[in-house]
Amino acid sequence: MTHRVAILGFGVVGQGFAEVILQKKDLLQEKYGKDISIVAISDLFKGALYHPDGLSIEDVVKVINETGSLHAYPEQPGLIRGLNSFETIEKTNADTIIEVTFTDVLTGQPAIDHCKFAFENQKNVIMSNKGPVALAYEELQILAKKQGVFWGFEGSVMSGTPALRMPMTSLAGNEISAIKGILNGTTNYMLTRMEEGLSYDESLKEAQQLGYAEADPTSDVEGFDALYKIVILANVIMGYPLKTEEVKRRGISHLTEADIELANVEGKRWKLIAQVKQEGGKCYASVGPEMISLKDSLAGVSGATNAITYECDLIGPVTLQGAGAGKVETAFSILIDLLNVEQVYQKV
Ligand code: HSE
Repeated sequence: MTHRVAILGFGVVGQGFAEVILQKKDLLQEKYGKDISIVAISDLFKGALYHPDGLSIEDVVKVINETGSLHAYPEQPGLIRGLNSFETIEKTNADTIIEVTFTDVLTGQPAIDHCKFAFENQKNVIMSNKGPVALAYEELQILAKKQGVFWGFEGSVMSGTPALRMPMTSLAGNEISAIKGILNGTTNYMLTRMEEGLSYDESLKEAQQLGYAEADPTSDVEGFDALYKIVILANVIMGYPLKTEEVKRRGISHLTEADIELANVEGKRWKLIAQVKQEGGKCYASVGPEMISLKDSLAGVSGATNAITYECDLIGPVTLQGAGAGKVETAFSILIDLLNVEQVYQKV
């Protein structure tokens, strides 16, 4: 079966997705019977390339690697150039829109508008942006259901580590009363390095050099990134319409070398903990640095790794640990959503 996709936005995640599809082409066909055809790729400046029979992914990856620009893609009969993002949604034959534009996390735009327009045009949407899920989950979910289309956003929390799909499927039937985790890789990396003797500024610089920090590190170090993720978890996993402004937030920028030393003396460790609890029909959520015991399952999670614990009534605490960011890791989140397009998200 051929599944046609259009990619909106061709930055790190979009390019990573094209590379993963190229790398896994044979496996996807042989093992899962999926022939994934990329019919359109839209970028911000010059509009989309579109071919109804599919673009050559080999050529796409080649021109990006060699020239850095999609627009060096070779001419061929039937190739259309210059569609804008809404035309790419409406006028191409894509079944699914991969929404990986550069989206402002505070407004969720343009991704929210792209989602709405795609659903209205009966197209599935898969994305890794946090904004639309944290800010407009209920509205978009209702719209997708009404139009009978799939909306996948596994990559919005912990990239391809199945922080959303695992509890929705493998923990289904449990009452999940609390979720607690290390959901930001940049700050976890920084705290690990500060414990090893680096200053705050040195550890931030290293995290930026390694590509962990977002373009503006405020989102990571002040806890906004983790806040958005805990809001997504409350909405999607707990079915509670938590809003971003209801979450208490503190980042790590005020932590001093003396604070790090104090934790060390007490046999503890600082972690930026994001958590949400359900009590009496309400949800309470916070993000902030905590000194946790070395015996805590989250204490051993070092570097840029993420981890999350779900408190379940039947199976008890279940902890999932893995990557929280990265080109291939986030591209994988798009792929796993694509392989599950037929499954519609259900509340646990
Ligand atoms: N900058 C984030 C982090 C990854 O450091 O975890 C994207 O959410």
